[in-house]
This record gives sequence, structure tokens and C-alpha cells, in this order.
Amino acid sequence: MTAVEAPHTPRVRRVLLIVGGGIAAYKALELVRLMRKAGLEVKAVLTRSGAEFVTPLSLAALTGSAVRQDLFSSEDETAMGHIELSRWADLIVVAPATAGLLAKAATGAADDLASTTLIATDAPVLLAPAMNVRMWLHPAVQANLATVRAFSEPRYTVVGPDDGEMACGEYGPGRMAEPAAILAAILTHDGKAGSGDRPLAGRHALVTAGPTFEPIDPVRGLTNRSSGKQGYAIAGALARAGARVTLVSGPVGLGTPTGVDRVSVETADQMLAAVEAALPADLAVLTAAVSDWRVADAADRKIKKQPGEGPPTLTLVENPDILKALSRHPDHRPALVIGFAAETGELERRAAAKLETKGCDWIVGNDVSEGVFGADETRVMLFRKGQTPDPWPETTKTAVADRLVHAVAVHFKKEAS
Ligand code: C5P
Repeated sequence: MTAVEAPHTPRVRRVLLIVGGGIAAYKALELVRLMRKAGLEVKAVLTRSGAEFVTPLSLAALTGSAVRQDLFSSEDETAMGHIELSRWADLIVVAPATAGLLAKAATGAADDLASTTLIATDAPVLLAPAMNVRMWLHPAVQANLATVRAFSEPRYTVVGPDDGEMACGEYGPGRMAEPAAILAAILTHDGKAGSGDRPLAGRHALVTAGPTFEPIDPVRGLTNRSSGKQGYAIAGALARAGARVTLVSGPVGLGTPTGVDRVSVETADQMLAAVEAALPADLAVLTAAVSDWRVADAADRKIKKQPGEGPPTLTLVENPDILKALSRHPDHRPALVIGFAAETGELERRAAAKLETKGCDWIVGNDVSEGVFGADETRVMLFRKGQTPDPWPETTKTAVADRLVHAVAVHFKKEAS
């Protein structure tokens, strides 16, 4: 279960929960319980298909408020009109967000109370998708998701879905995020307060993070030390600033930040392919610790110790340099390409040299001689082409992410004026 760390003063106080029709609707009840426990005021809209899975009575009992089901109920409309209801909320949460609800949200179809509310609201929307894995991976569903994510107002963010075994017996992405994870996304959401404060709205940001893993055989491999924390913090900060974020991640033990699309890879070749597939992008922040080499011919069976034969010889070949490839991309070079340089000495000289050799615009340099890997604190220096290096004080990786994203927003604003 995800730990729920509430910010000191959550910005979201009133949640309108839309419960769609899927087996995951039962988890919506637990979500309501957790939201109420966290002190949030909750009203619920139950779609017609949602009512096939949970009863209005259970939702009413848990929310402590009448449940709305019908757009044309004169009784409900007299108590609180649907427009008023849609404006009442600081945040609309759709859980489970079914393929059908997603399609309505993307097209603006308004044929029931839930979908009408979605186009009448001035509040941001948090989607917790839940559906069969094949439905989730269908290009129509992914296109609808990309459409809503590209909206600048109201802003759509997404939590989950998780990978795992589904109620239908299949395995893969599509399980609704756990109620605790959805609650965490609500408590850290800016709500309406974040509206208009999204300087990167409409931009697509590409982030790489974590290590790569280059197999030697099915059980062994070459890898780099990287927790992925800095890259994940940057991806989250970019999403909060309104960007659509694609995070291409090597193997790490971190949850996907809210509002971020994660593509999981293992090797440098896969990372490069995923980066290429995500283009075009307006900006790229490549934090991944990519292995410089891979084993020329990875064995497809475990290499066994042979008595008297000594260790095997591994022949290494060079991996693609993703930062260099992106910085010199013939068709889709992002307008701003940012690399990282983890050095164990001579940071200034090496980072400046890297700006040249890689062809990127900025380098975030950090000295990793002392305990940066996996730590929450770091000390970095920002190197920008043609500018004097900017040393930042030691701080958390989250604060570095926020400051970097602020610098990016200032850069784009200057470019636009
Ligand atoms: O050359 P070095 O590994 O020090 O460069 C670090 C920067 O280059 C980081 O931004 C890293 O993500 C990127 N890089 C890459 N592909 C490689 C090696 C490094 O994208 N094969």
C-alpha cells in the first residue's frame, strides 16, 4: 500500500466523485471512507452502469450526502443544480474511469449527469482508470487519454492504472490504483488553486530516469547505480507545471508520479527506442544512468562455472548515447535538451565539456563522490550554454526538480516573448 503523506494544508477540500461502471467500483467505497477520514467533503455521482456494481445507498451512507444519478431529476436539480454541483468541487475524481467515461470526456459528449458534469466544471479532474488490459492498451483508449491530458483547462491528471491480475483473470496494466494511492494523489493535488498556474501547459516533456540493465545471461547483468529519485521528482514537477510528461524509466522501485505516463524499459537500446517513439517533445530531461556498454552476445542460458576453466570472458560493445542522439536528432530535436552529469571530481570542467560533446543545451552537474545515490538530498550546479555556471545550495531532490522546472518555464516564457 502507498503511504499517504498529506501536505500540511491540502488544497483540495471538496471532492466530487464520479463512480463509473466497472468491477473496481467496489474500491470507490473504500476511497470514500479514506477521503472522509482525511477530512474531505465528498459528494458522489453514480453512473447508470456504476449502479450495477455499487448501490446508491452505500455511497450515500459513506459520503453522508445524497447521491446524484439523474441529470433530469427535478428533485435533485432543485436541491443543487448540476452546474452548481460541478462548480462546488475543488477536484473531480473519476474512479473507476471506464473506457466509456474516458471517451465521453475526450469528445465532450454529454448524455448523462457524469459526462455533463465533466464539461460543465471549472475544477481539475483526476482519473483513476480501470479496465481490462486489452481495452487499456487499445489505441482508441490511449488516444482519448492523450486528448484529455492535452487539455489546458480543465486540467486532467491520471493515477494508475496498476499492473496486476485483474478481476477478469487476465494480467497486465488496467487495475484501478489502490484507494490509498488515489487519496495520496488527491491530498497532493493543487485543485482549483493550481488552475492558471501551469506555465508548461500544452508542452510535451520527455524524461529518462533510473539505470539501464544490460543482460549478461538470463540471471546476470551490467547496471549503474541509480535510484531514479531525481528523474521521478522532475517528471512529477513537470506534470504539476502542466506539461504532458512521458517518463521512460529503467528498473527502479518507485511509483509513477501523478499525471505522468511511464514507459518501462530495461536496456539502453530499449530506452532509445522508447525515447524515439515518444517524439516529438518540446523538452527533454535525460537523467537516466545509461550503461555505457552492453555485453556483445548475451547468453540465452545461465552461464555455468566450469571446473578448471576460469571465468568467462565478456566482450563489451558500446551502447547508444541517448542524450547525444536526441540533441542531434535530424527531425525532432526538442527545443530544450537537458542532460545530467554525475562526476566524481572536476565537475565544472567536465560538465562544460559535456555541453559541447553531447550537444545539449543545459547540464545539471552533481558531484557524486559523497553519498548522492539513493539519497533524498543533493547539491547540483546548472550549466547553460553561454552562461556562467549557477551553483545551487544543497537541498532535496524534490526541491531541485521544482527549481529546474521553474528555470525551464522561465526559459520558455523568454523564448515566446
Ligand atoms: O556521458 P555521461 O554518462 O556522463 O553523460 C551523462 C548524461 O548523458 C546524462 O544526461 C545521461 O542520461 C546521458 N546519457 C545517455 N546515454 C548514454 C549515456 C549517458 O543519454 N549512453
